Amino acid sequence: MLEIKELTVKFKTPQGELKACDKVSLKIEKGKNLGLVGESGCGKSMTCLAILKLLPAEAQITWGKILFKDENIFKMDSKKLRTVRGDKISMIFQEPMSSLNPVITIGEQLTEAIMTHKQVTQSEAKKQAIELLKKVKIDKPEARFYEYPHNLSGGMRQRVMIAMAISLKPDILIADEPTTALDVTTQAQVLELLDELQREYNMSVLIVSHDFGVIARLADSIAVMYAGEIVEYASSEDLFKNPRHPYTKALLVSLKQMQQKKDNLTVLKGAVCDLTKLPIGCRFKPRCSEADAECKNKITELVEINKGHFVRCHKCKK
Ligand SMILES: Nc1ncnc2c1ncn2[C@@H]1O[C@H](COP(=O)(O)OP(=O)(O)O)[C@@H](O)[C@H]1O
Ligand SMILES: [Mg+2]
Repeated sequence: MLEIKELTVKFKTPQGELKACDKVSLKIEKGKNLGLVGESGCGKSMTCLAILKLLPAEAQITWGKILFKDENIFKMDSKKLRTVRGDKISMIFQEPMSSLNPVITIGEQLTEAIMTHKQVTQSEAKKQAIELLKKVKIDKPEARFYEYPHNLSGGMRQRVMIAMAISLKPDILIADEPTTALDVTTQAQVLELLDELQREYNMSVLIVSHDFGVIARLADSIAVMYAGEIVEYASSEDLFKNPRHPYTKALLVSLKQMQQKKDNLTVLKGAVCDLTKLPIGCRFKPRCSEADAECKNKITELVEINKGHFVRCHKCKK
C-alpha cells in the first residue's frame, strides 16, 4: 500500500545541518496497523509529514522515495497530490484545535470537507456529516452539528477530526500522537474507536506515539525510531516477546514501570543525541547499558536477525 524507502530529511540550522530522518524505510500493508514509536524529537512527525509532502518549508528531502501504490509521492504533480491528500491518505494530529477552524461550526467544516472531494449536494453532505458524527460516537450528532470546536471537549474534538479524516474512506490513515493531549480514559476510548474504524473500513493505519502503551494496543507491526533512524522493526508479537535493541528494551521496561506506577523510573537516563552532531557509531551508545568499545566507531546497519525482525545493533547476533 505504502512504502517509504530510505527517506532522509534535513534541516539547515544555525548549529549546522540537522538530520531529522536518516534513511528511514517502512512498509504499510493493506488493512494493517503499523506503529511508530520513539521519544520526542526522534523524527516521527517528519516521517509522517513527508508522506503527504507536508514538511515545513525549511525541510529538505535529500534522499529516498515514498511509493503509494507503486507511485512516487515526491514525483506527483500538485493535482495528483491533492487527490492523494485527504482522499486516499488522511492524517490526524495531536492537537485537533490546530486543524479545526474555531469560527466555523463542526458541521459546516465536515460538510465542506466532504464537498471539496465529492460531487454531492449540500443536503446530502450534511446527511453524511451527521452519519459520520454518529460513527465516531458523538452523542446527539444532529445538535452537535451546529456547535463550535471550543464548545467540545478535547476527546470530542479528536473524534470530529477522526470523522473528517475518514469522511472520504481513505486507504491510509496517519495518526500522529492522536491521544497524547487526552486524559487516560478518553485516550482508551479514542484508541478503541480507531481500532473499530480501521476494521470496518479496512484501512491501513500508521499510528505514531512516544508512548509504547498506545502503540501496543493497535499495531500489527512496530518500528522503533531513535535519533532519526529505525533501530528495530518487527511484528508486534515478536517485538514484545523478544525485543532485541537496548533502546526498545529500555522503552518497554519504562512502560512496565509506568503501568505499575513506580515513581523512580530508572532505565532511560539522558536525552536523545544532538541531531546536528551525530556520532559515527551507534547513536544510542551514550545511554546504552550494553555498549562496548566497538559501538563507538562501528557503523550499525539494520540487520534482519530473524524472519521479519530487523535490529540496528552490532551486539544483536542472529
Ligand atoms: N522547522 C524545523 N527546523 C529545524 N529543525 C526541526 C524543525 N522541525 C523539526 N525539527 C527537528 O527535527 C527533529 C525531528 O522532529 P520530529 O519529527 O517533530 O520529532 P518527533 O515527532 O519524533 O517528536 C527534531 O530534532 C526537531 O527539533
Ligand atoms: Mg511528533
